[in-house]
Amino acid sequence: KRSQSLAGKRIVITAGPTHEPIDPVRYIANRSSGRQGYAIAGALARLGADVELISGPVSLETPRGVKRIDVETALEMEAAVNRTLPADVAILVAAVADWRAEASPRKIKKGETGGPPELNLTENPDILAGLATHDQRPALLIGFAAETDKVVGHAKAKLDRKGCDWIVANDVSGDVMGGTENSIHLITANGVESWEQMPKREVARRLAERIVDAIV
Ligand code: C5P
Repeated sequence: KRSQSLAGKRIVITAGPTHEPIDPVRYIANRSSGRQGYAIAGALARLGADVELISGPVSLETPRGVKRIDVETALEMEAAVNRTLPADVAILVAAVADWRAEASPRKIKKGETGGPPELNLTENPDILAGLATHDQRPALLIGFAAETDKVVGHAKAKLDRKGCDWIVANDVSGDVMGGTENSIHLITANGVESWEQMPKREVARRLAERIVDAIV
């Protein structure tokens, strides 16, 4: 299909980790470079989409033509996503921290509690599941699933549990984290497609083509 095939389509993407502060110098986070999400944002912008990239803390350049909104925590990411609605497509690539701590306003000193401090953790909202039941649910809702084992089985269960349309399952048992290549399975209502390992940019390009096929 033609180069501006996504012109006029609004697409929201989350990428990178979230950081959940413990005190001014410490945080809880999941491992994520943001590379795959950024590559997807760039590929969609090249097809003319209006792309809003809600990004956790990463050290990557903003892809050309992409509107980037920087956030730190899961709560900030959720609020930023909701502010971008309505959108035609949402792709949630971010590795959102499952829990947040009650952050201390000052640095916790080693030994001040007579041992390691207790982190009083609260579960973060699931942004993907929240979008699935939202009044303004995007017509195409795509989640990611980083798995180390039973990749397809776990990802299929996640598709149902989260109520999204597609799951892109990464096998992260190798050195995908922070690397430039990815090995994915695309899980939809029609079944599973397993792609050979390829550069994250190429995964992004092919996924963008699939999105064109699905919504244009
Ligand atoms: O449950 P799990 O974290 O494995 O699900 C991964 C998918 O859900 C990813 O698409 C991720 O961006 C999204 N997610 C989210 N909010 C969370 C946790 C995960 O949007 N709090």
